[in-house]
Amino acid sequence: MKPNLRLFLVLFASAALSRATFGAGPHVPVAKPFDLIAWNGGRFVYGVDYYPEAWDEGQWEKDAAMMEQAGINFVRLGEFAWAKMQPEEGRFDFAWLDRALKVLNAHGIRAVLGTPTAAPPAWLYARYPDIAAMDEHGVRYRFGSRRNYCLHNPDFLAATRRIVGAIAEHYKDHPGVLGWQIDNELGGPYCYDSYCQTAFQKWCRSKYPTLAALNRAWGTIFWGHTYTAWSQVPLPWNTLYEAHSPSLALDYNRFFSDSTADYLKFQAGILRRIAPSKAITHNEMGLFDAIDYSVLNASLDFVAWDNYPMFEPDYASYYGPALGHDLMRRSIENQSFMVMEQQGGLPGWQIFWGRQASPALYRVWAYQAIAHGADGVCFFRWRTSRFGTEQYWQGILDQDSYPNARYQVVAQMGKELPKLTELLDGSKVVSEVALLVSPDSRWAFHIQPLIEGAGASGGPKANFDYNRQLHEYYDARRRQGINVDVVFPQSEFSSYKVIIAPSLFVVDAPLVSKLRQFVEQGGALVLTYRSGVKDEHNVVTDHTLPGPLASLAGVAIHEFDPQTNQEQEIDAGAAGRFPARVWFDILEPSTAEVLATYAKGYYAGKAAVTRNRVGKGWVYYVGTESSSDNFYDHGAEAVAKQAGIAIGPKLPAGVEMATRQKEGERIVFLLNYTESAQTVTLEGSYRNALTGETESGQISIPPLDVKVLSTSK
Ligand code: GLA
Repeated sequence: MKPNLRLFLVLFASAALSRATFGAGPHVPVAKPFDLIAWNGGRFVYGVDYYPEAWDEGQWEKDAAMMEQAGINFVRLGEFAWAKMQPEEGRFDFAWLDRALKVLNAHGIRAVLGTPTAAPPAWLYARYPDIAAMDEHGVRYRFGSRRNYCLHNPDFLAATRRIVGAIAEHYKDHPGVLGWQIDNELGGPYCYDSYCQTAFQKWCRSKYPTLAALNRAWGTIFWGHTYTAWSQVPLPWNTLYEAHSPSLALDYNRFFSDSTADYLKFQAGILRRIAPSKAITHNEMGLFDAIDYSVLNASLDFVAWDNYPMFEPDYASYYGPALGHDLMRRSIENQSFMVMEQQGGLPGWQIFWGRQASPALYRVWAYQAIAHGADGVCFFRWRTSRFGTEQYWQGILDQDSYPNARYQVVAQMGKELPKLTELLDGSKVVSEVALLVSPDSRWAFHIQPLIEGAGASGGPKANFDYNRQLHEYYDARRRQGINVDVVFPQSEFSSYKVIIAPSLFVVDAPLVSKLRQFVEQGGALVLTYRSGVKDEHNVVTDHTLPGPLASLAGVAIHEFDPQTNQEQEIDAGAAGRFPARVWFDILEPSTAEVLATYAKGYYAGKAAVTRNRVGKGWVYYVGTESSSDNFYDHGAEAVAKQAGIAIGPKLPAGVEMATRQKEGERIVFLLNYTESAQTVTLEGSYRNALTGETESGQISIPPLDVKVLSTSK
């Protein structure tokens, strides 16, 4: 007998024994703060993204049985099924989805339904061609691919209202539907049509009290760009050979981000009004920067994100997803988040991208999400598509449904999670260090990339890269087993001992005073080069750099040196010498002490790194960047010691440690991404949450495996 046939027979027998029934939930608003495990009836949310519409109905029962056998209790459905849900204007058809849900629910699997607006149907484009966005050259997109609509087109908004309202009405009382995912990976494209132009002008009018105030704020005196009527305010479309005003461009970025948040809020409003007992989420993209997630997330009950570790550049092969998790966790204050698309196979579109990972690594990556606070993991996708652009984007199963090695790994984890659920439930990641991400600064660096090739990681030149700096500081903490939160300018700072704010290029007065207060009360703030350069309108300060941050840093910068080709050196005295690159702020201390100097060139001996006492705290200023991990490790250790932060055990390369905690209990995750066994020495005694055994001292983690250890604290 073929192995898959044998498996199916076993599955059918076991499924019949374990049919779950769900009571209809009370019709009350979703509880806050949101708890994903309680939402899923006390089960850790363990799922797959499933597309029943693309498979024969005869396949559904086999799929659901195989899912149940693997411990799957959750599916995301329907986020691209608009054409099937609404075959033509005025006619909806949910019968097929009702049948699919019935099959899945019978196997104990509940669903989040996507609102399918990421993929409007062909008939909608045919009837309303202007629903498509327009590119910066004035060319309108057309039907095909996905996600190319205009956020301000009234016909598209009306069509959205109809389809979202119909789904909400149909499923508002369905006990097997837990909630909704709005759209899919919101984030563009930017649109430059007349609907967006009018909306942008309206946005500007609500921001600036008068046109004169806008002209002043943007400095439109430059090249005589002064507007004499609101209707003249353009979008930053491509001009003949020069870029538009950086101030206009930054406000356009904010407008686009706000428009996206408004679109999500529009859908959330419809869903909440009709179905208040269902939770609302959206699948986001970690470090993706066209949207300010801290604004978008105000309309959600919980955050979800799509995690594809194989897209990470080499410098962050396992800390890349970690930073993504930490950013997503804190982008909504209540912290309960899940991964809606966890990589389940080799990615690819027209070609396969990269080489295959060991099947065991998919499980370690999924545990990494949990270690960083996720209360749910959903693999993309159940089975690889037979059709369309993503034929080479592997799901857990390939098209033949054979229970392959990835399926076995998913099933292994599905058996483990029930043993961990009680322990994980209610536990949180607690961090003393925060990394401050400034959406305004990131946009401003996109608009003016500082030096050649900014934004591109790697390559022969040491280009400016905001995200690389985030990683340099973040990764050093992870190497020392220190948890890190990612925060935004409007986040609460007071619970942290250290805030690292790389290249805080655009700052406004409220942020400066928040940072001052944080430091005066005893916090340590780490600033780096190109900080305090621009005001909130993307206009360069007329104060000596680092502008409004100068008195905090206790330094003045009268000269700087951008260098893409040549390496400098930092002389940190007894700590040694470190290579330096990209940018060199030549620091003149006013009140700061010098921690390191430049070693080469005409500014050899001038300060490169300083530290300034402010109130009860300290402000560090790092005027450059290094290609050496040792530089960041040395800095992280010094800052941690001074701030009273415990440094974790020595971690071998390729091993990560992260912790969650709750009342009286600390959970330690040791994740081994290497193909050999690794050892970490821990103080104290731990209970292995998967085996129940006691472990202490030198703890061995098998190749491509994880240890989940708990201890009372
Ligand atoms: C994204 C999307 C999915 C799918 C995957 C793979 O994460 O959300 O719909 O397209 O990428 O391409």
